[in-house]
Amino acid sequence: MPVFDRIPVHTASPYTVTVGQDIVSESGEWLRDLHAPCTVQLVTDDTVNTLYADTVEHSLTAAGFTVHRFVFPHGESSKTTATLVTLLERMAEQEITRQDVVAALGGGVVSDLAGFAAAVYLRGIPHVTFPTTLLSAVDAAVGGKTGVDLAAGKNLAGAFKQPLGVLCDTATFATLPPREIRNGMAETVKTAMLCDTDLFASLENAEDLDLTAAVARCIRYKAYVVEQDERDQGLRQLLNLGHTVGHAIEQCSDYTLAHGEAVAIGMAVIARAAARRGLCTDDTAARLICTLEAHGLPTGNPYTAEELRAVAMRDKKRRGDRLTLIVPLTVGECVLHDIPTAELAAWITEGSTNQ
Ligand code: NAD
Ligand code: GLY
Repeated sequence: MPVFDRIPVHTASPYTVTVGQDIVSESGEWLRDLHAPCTVQLVTDDTVNTLYADTVEHSLTAAGFTVHRFVFPHGESSKTTATLVTLLERMAEQEITRQDVVAALGGGVVSDLAGFAAAVYLRGIPHVTFPTTLLSAVDAAVGGKTGVDLAAGKNLAGAFKQPLGVLCDTATFATLPPREIRNGMAETVKTAMLCDTDLFASLENAEDLDLTAAVARCIRYKAYVVEQDERDQGLRQLLNLGHTVGHAIEQCSDYTLAHGEAVAIGMAVIARAAARRGLCTDDTAARLICTLEAHGLPTGNPYTAEELRAVAMRDKKRRGDRLTLIVPLTVGECVLHDIPTAELAAWITEGSTNQ
């Protein structure tokens, strides 16, 4: 198997993320190293189903696994309790047991939904993830956050559930539409802003970028953070750079803005406000915003501070009348910044103008 990197994740239940190119066709042998042959509930969306599910199913079957496939319509609108219940009922009809495995093949919607199904079915059965979007590779498929959206907001029902393993084939990104590459770039720029000046420089000069190496670097950092704070009580909140405002923007747009696009605007808003408050230099904010724009991401906020504040009040990260913003100090270094919720609108107003 042409592996580029194997990244250990030392969580309470440890696992390894295998990163490489053209490796999804070897998913059967890879899984057999982790788990004895059993029934695999393969979960995917309709787009990924036509692209990669036959290859994965063939490889799993050749390695001795029995495969049942569950396919749902692509997109955030499927990440619901309704799809979850349909999947759980299907798993029960197929008599999936605790000795069997759920395999999530797709982007973050698939890994969030399938991981949550694995967390609650029979009070928990093993699962693996095969991320096929840049965004899911650098963020969603690793770290154990699973869940679905409720009418009141994104990811409001979920569980922490680490996978048995992650197989990340960066060759699958070749079929991604440009918008999905941009989406994943938002989380890649986020990671560089949090921890890595070299990665940030390679993103500023996109022609120097080795995407597989960048993905591996982002996963290594995410693994490090998740190991320190698996349950999101402190350090892990750093991964939410741009997300408090971003989630509110995503919701206000009725999900017409994708997650990465909304997070890009959220990061730009916080960076502008941080510069105005003297927490970082204008140059730091400008480098972040220019890099996002160089990857085709939006950085202007189309909503009022009041619209976003009202939605952010329902954010699961709020603690009473306080919330934690992630604030850039410089490229490669950000900090948790606790504010009263009453101050959020001022941050958004200050960050929504280039003055
Ligand atoms: P997604 O799963 O909807 O995938 C985006 C689109 O790309 C879909 O239409 C999908 O069918 C298509 N697609 C997937 N792989 C493809 C491929 N290789 N070629 C062509 N098309 C392909 O969205 P996403 O951006 O991957 O993930 C966003 C979701 O992830 C959101 O629900 C977000 O809340 C969640 N998320 C979770 C975490 C976490 O830690 N659990 C972190 C970040 C984001
Ligand atoms: N995506 C943020 C986290 O995993 O904590």
